[in-house]
Amino acid sequence: MTLAEDLRPALDLSQIQALAAADMASVDALIRRRLASDVVLINQIADHIVSAGGKRLRPMLVMLAGHACGGAGADHHQLAAIIEFIHTSTLLHDDVVDESDLRRGRSTANALWGNAPSVLVGDFLYSRSFQLMVELDTMAVMRILADTTNRIAEGEVLQLLHVHNPDTDEAAYLRVIERKTAVLFAAATRLGALAAGADETLQQQLYDYGMNLGYAFQIADDVLDYTADAAELGKNLGDDLAEGKATLPLIHAIACSDAQLSSRLRGIVQDGDATAMPEVLAAIEVAGSLDYSRQRAIEYADAAERSLAGLDERPALAALRGLARYAVERRS
Ligand code: IPE
Ligand code: IPE
Ligand code: MG
Ligand code: MG
Repeated sequence: MTLAEDLRPALDLSQIQALAAADMASVDALIRRRLASDVVLINQIADHIVSAGGKRLRPMLVMLAGHACGGAGADHHQLAAIIEFIHTSTLLHDDVVDESDLRRGRSTANALWGNAPSVLVGDFLYSRSFQLMVELDTMAVMRILADTTNRIAEGEVLQLLHVHNPDTDEAAYLRVIERKTAVLFAAATRLGALAAGADETLQQQLYDYGMNLGYAFQIADDVLDYTADAAELGKNLGDDLAEGKATLPLIHAIACSDAQLSSRLRGIVQDGDATAMPEVLAAIEVAGSLDYSRQRAIEYADAAERSLAGLDERPALAALRGLARYAVERRS
């Protein structure tokens, strides 16, 4: 990193949250207002997951991208709520598919109410997001969100095809995380720019920022699945291994271990053997797989920062830079 780059301001998370606080209060109020249904079970389940909080990172990205491109208003609040509804619906679906029982420090909806209600309320939130979208009455917005949600669905199915497959390599892993995670980050920042009246070039810069940030965020998430404190993370550790999902740390260890260990690790992926966690942790330690994965995440975070080159220096820009660092340094 050059000295000039070192001197560019980047806010830390509490500064970013303070900067975005007023906007996020409006977004939160909108989310609450638009969650409502006269079907009681929908309110119960939606409220369960929404009131547990979560980091609200994606809606914050909509707002900050807007401010970084010159200004954000009511349309941004609506877009932010839409993005969080889409995210929340994917979490409801994801926890069913992954058979996870802890999310945001609470029992998951599928653990409490079962799979069918979780999937159906996920569909409710998903279609509610489309109702909010139509209210904006902007074809460019609808096109981006329609394409994005379609890509996310592809990503989830693609991931399913790799479960229990020890041949999943880094390239295949990256193809999955682009679709399941990064495209929503990219849509959030691009829409923030678009609604601020940014031209195509600036929209593309914000899109590239979001895409790279999304990769960094998901790789960091996959490292946390092996290393975090479960209480702090609000999710169970080892979920990926238990479901036979080879994420970057394990993919790296399989590729870099000696033949005997590699073959043992491949067997663990095939079986989705959660009891083998200590063995896997030892193998990824020896292979340096966590450091390797963290380094890859940092490369994407750096690329995200670089995408912002040339934007006017504003607090929101420093916040976007700060979020790139936070994505890879976070513990939850
Ligand atoms: C969880 O996303 C899903 C991933 C892409 C790893 P977040 O970690 O942003 O979830 P919440 O919204 O803060 O709970
Ligand atoms: C997150 O996948 C991606 C989506 C929810 C679309 P993960 O399965 O890695 O996320 P967590 O770890 O359950 O939050
Ligand atoms: Mg999951
Ligand atoms: Mg995960």
